[in-house]
Amino acid sequence: MSESIIKCEGLNKWYGSIQALKDVSIDIKKGESVGLVGDNGAGKSTFIKILSGVHQADSGNIYFDGNLVKINDAKDSMKLGIETIYQDSALAPTLSIARNLFVGREPLTLKLGSLGLLDREKMAKESLEAIKRVELDLRSGDELVENLSGGERQGVVIARALYFRTKVLIMDEPTNHLSVKETEKVLRWIEKLKAEGTTCIFITHNLHHVYPVSDRLVVFARGEKIADVQKKDTSIEELTKMIVHD
Ligand SMILES: Nc1ncnc2c1ncn2[C@@H]1O[C@H](COP(=O)(O)OP(=O)(O)OP(=O)(O)O)[C@@H](O)[C@H]1O
Ligand SMILES: [Mg+2]
Repeated sequence: MSESIIKCEGLNKWYGSIQALKDVSIDIKKGESVGLVGDNGAGKSTFIKILSGVHQADSGNIYFDGNLVKINDAKDSMKLGIETIYQDSALAPTLSIARNLFVGREPLTLKLGSLGLLDREKMAKESLEAIKRVELDLRSGDELVENLSGGERQGVVIARALYFRTKVLIMDEPTNHLSVKETEKVLRWIEKLKAEGTTCIFITHNLHHVYPVSDRLVVFARGEKIADVQKKDTSIEELTKMIVHD
């Protein structure tokens, strides 16, 4: 595990007079599972929003797979193979599971210029298969996402990441507001993604969730990276101290 998938050098981000990121450098290796932790306002979401194209850094460089890249919007990020899960907004609630799975990448039956007909049959069949892979007990891809529980919704996004062989999956608090049982399920899916070689960045306030599924832990405090350690070289107690005492 030595090849970089995402390498950031000296990222700075300002929101008006607030500096949300201060000279953040980080080198994430292919297939690595990185837990990103830190107190409220530490800059965790800002960092991943730069990778997912929601915000742009004011300075610094991002290399993806060894190439210098500019991520100007969410499309650029997706094109690189980065998929981001936010607790609430990753899916369109009024669309079906199948439509959500293929959103932006819909299969077409025939294509004329920029027009095409949705291949609904393929979407229905493949969305069910994708859902089965995460062992979600849903009968049909036609079910609307608004009728799913929080955990089931995370399952659909993870099914999408597996289906499209996402290279990097970023999860910003994926276990927030989930029941204990649903949280366990999400953590098992993360293990599965890891086993399939997906690079994962997992943000959470709950060290007990992130620690078991991480290879490496990165701690942010007030916009700075204050620690970057292999799991074997740290503990939940030590990480807690770093977050609390900074
Ligand atoms: N869109 C925005 N406009 C102005 N300031 C912002 C914006 N987003 C974040 N900030 C500020 O930037 C800093 C970092 O916020 P960020 O959301 O990255 O922290 P975080 O580590 O994700 O925190 P939390 O754990 O609470 O989600 C905070 O001071 C926050 O108030
Ligand atoms: Mg956040």
